[in-house]
Amino acid sequence: MRSKTLASIAVTAGLALAVSACGANSSSGTGGTSETNSGSGTGAKVGVILPETASSARWESFDKPLLEAALKKEGLDPDIQNAQGDVQKFSTLADGMINAGVKVLIIATPNSEVGASVAKKAQTQGIQVIDYDRLNTGGSSSYYVSFDNVKVGELQGQGLADAMKAAPQGANVIEIEGAPTDNNATLFHEGQQKVLKPLYDSGKLKLVQSQPIDNWDNQKGGQVFEQILTSNGGKVDGVVAANDGLAGAVITILKKVGLNGKVPVTGQDATPDGLQAVLRGDQHMTVFKPIKDEAEAAAKLAAALAKGDTAAADALATGKTKDAKGNRDVKSVLLTAQLITKDKVKSVVDAGFVKASDICVADTQAACTELGIK
Ligand code: GAL
Repeated sequence: MRSKTLASIAVTAGLALAVSACGANSSSGTGGTSETNSGSGTGAKVGVILPETASSARWESFDKPLLEAALKKEGLDPDIQNAQGDVQKFSTLADGMINAGVKVLIIATPNSEVGASVAKKAQTQGIQVIDYDRLNTGGSSSYYVSFDNVKVGELQGQGLADAMKAAPQGANVIEIEGAPTDNNATLFHEGQQKVLKPLYDSGKLKLVQSQPIDNWDNQKGGQVFEQILTSNGGKVDGVVAANDGLAGAVITILKKVGLNGKVPVTGQDATPDGLQAVLRGDQHMTVFKPIKDEAEAAAKLAAALAKGDTAAADALATGKTKDAKGNRDVKSVLLTAQLITKDKVKSVVDAGFVKASDICVADTQAACTELGIK
């Protein structure tokens, strides 16, 4: 059974971000960047450090461009880097940004320890720190911007339970979970179990094994899944994969044994690969997290903090997240996510998150046509 790393219990008060339209405030004229500088921002430098690329296409394909656009729109001067999963590199990047005089640091970290130490160092220099997407448990960041990640896990659990309604009693489930160093992975698992544990307890489903995967390493996830499947005599009826990257690795193994499309697999991030797999029927569902909303919320918070307007920041971060490790409540913006099964893929295109051309390819074109995706 999964050894639970410390969970930060998301106690949220006031979930959705009530984001007042920023509108085209008159530029402060203090420089900043290009014509997109419509915010009233001070042109202040804002450092952003993303955790890795190997875990999910989201960080470089979505978070980076969307954060760049949102920060510039607020009249800020972003410097966005990726630590490539390397904790030492994360710390070095942070030192560079602190020395460059950023006013605000936005961090999505490979683990809470490096996040806590970076926040502490930044705060001694009067820099405000925002935990982005992943809470640094035991840290000291003043704000946290993410999704309600327990709810994300519930959507994954519900997606699998729905897909296995007609499964025989004691159907076999394998859980391939995210990095034990990522507090989100703990929250996703917690949400999944709200739905799945009663089904395990009743015997409707049988949990073969629940296995966290270090760094969300997709290749490792596929290898571990194959080992568990083999040790279970090749029997599996459903798979919890904690994100689309892991889902893709699991589906590759299922294809080898002719089970793809017959065994429902969950996912998360609504990446182009994940959505294609859903259209093919190889993946039962993904979770769409509007990263544009997450990036814009972080940018609005950063703009307020860059001006020292903590009242405005607090008016944005009306949620609250319990950091059990640090025994503190963190002011939060917690956004909502959507369960995406095949019939709902069009809504992700309509939201402008992906283009039809990203997901309607040779072997998914028929499904796109049937669903009116063009
Ligand atoms: C989580 C993030 C997810 C997931 C994973 C891998 O922290 O919230 O979107 O994809 O990391 O990057």
